[in-house]
Amino acid sequence: MTSVEKEEATEEYMVRAVDLTKYFPAEKVGLLERLTGKKERYVRAVDHVDMLLRKGLTTALVGESGSGKTTIGRMLATLETPTSGTVYYGDLVLSKQTLSQIRKRVQIVFQNPYESLDPRMSIKEIVEEPLVKIKSEEKEKRVKEVLSAVGLNYDDIYYRKARDLSGGQRQRVAVARAMAADPEFIVLDEPTSALDASVQSQVLNLLVDLREEFGYTYLFITHNMMVARYISDYIYVMYAGKIVETGKTEEVFENPLHPYTKLLLKSVPHLEPGARLEPMSGEAPSLLNPPSGCRFNPRCPFATEKCRQQEPPLVDVQGHKVACHLYDK
Ligand SMILES: Nc1ncnc2c1ncn2[C@@H]1O[C@H](COP(=O)(O)OP(=O)(O)OP(=O)(O)O)[C@@H](O)[C@H]1O
Ligand code: SF4
Ligand SMILES: [Mg+2]
Repeated sequence: MTSVEKEEATEEYMVRAVDLTKYFPAEKVGLLERLTGKKERYVRAVDHVDMLLRKGLTTALVGESGSGKTTIGRMLATLETPTSGTVYYGDLVLSKQTLSQIRKRVQIVFQNPYESLDPRMSIKEIVEEPLVKIKSEEKEKRVKEVLSAVGLNYDDIYYRKARDLSGGQRQRVAVARAMAADPEFIVLDEPTSALDASVQSQVLNLLVDLREEFGYTYLFITHNMMVARYISDYIYVMYAGKIVETGKTEEVFENPLHPYTKLLLKSVPHLEPGARLEPMSGEAPSLLNPPSGCRFNPRCPFATEKCRQQEPPLVDVQGHKVACHLYDK
């Protein structure tokens, strides 16, 4: 039984992923090449990950660029098919048979509203897109409701094109579109990264208010540790396709255990005068051919021979979970 399965008995969860994996083919290998012995190579973007998203709460997923965050988000939003693993949505297991039912419960908001909204469509067309099989008067009522929930006035905006709105307005429209079909679970993939600081705070506050009002469960993907701390109840720290640390957000920030989490926190800008940043040295590893043992070992100041040979499991340590041999019993 995995750690996530053990928690199942005590936690009310919205989404539970068990042993979730996504390998992307790195290049096309034709039949002829295969016959001559050429092997297919894979980008191991997400490698045997367990995840539990608690109902009505926000779970942050953090990590460097290319660590696999978006791939997890897209799989949980049913936009990408897992290579292996099982995903449960409450009482439903993701499969071809349950896909349409699950899709009614799930929505995603992407990072860049300049790319995710069709600039030629009107705001009304964008927001009502997920509403199928509904009469047009009811559609209009729903579009009014969700635009108002995100702080936009229907009469002022329904006829305008996405290209004529500011970044903050566009992201509000993207959130309204996600809300339109009344989902329970929303994946927010870097929803504020493309916005300037003041608009970012407004959209973050809006997301918090909407969750309070409508009881949504969020998976909030970000590379910004301070945003993760502000927005989330639980946090997963990802490194090179693996979860290296997870727990209650406050516990992980108060007592980070994994050397990677500690370094991530040291590289965050502080407001104290004179505080020096400690940028992480080294580069993120190739996911085509990740390091053996612990994937962080080439960059870790504490790496030993064991770290280079054995992959550390994610285990309970001091109130949360960490995958690091420093905590081997
Ligand atoms: N469709 C795809 N085909 C091939 N490789 C892919 C595909 N999508 C993602 N990848 C690769 O999978 C790895 C993880 O990418 P992903 O976008 O999930 O990372 P991320 O953590 O979201 O990064 P960022 O912070 O830059 O958004 C990367 O090496 C990426 O190049
Ligand atoms: S397992 Fe070893 S290399 Fe990996 S983070 Fe822990 S100490 Fe560092
Ligand atoms: Mg991403």
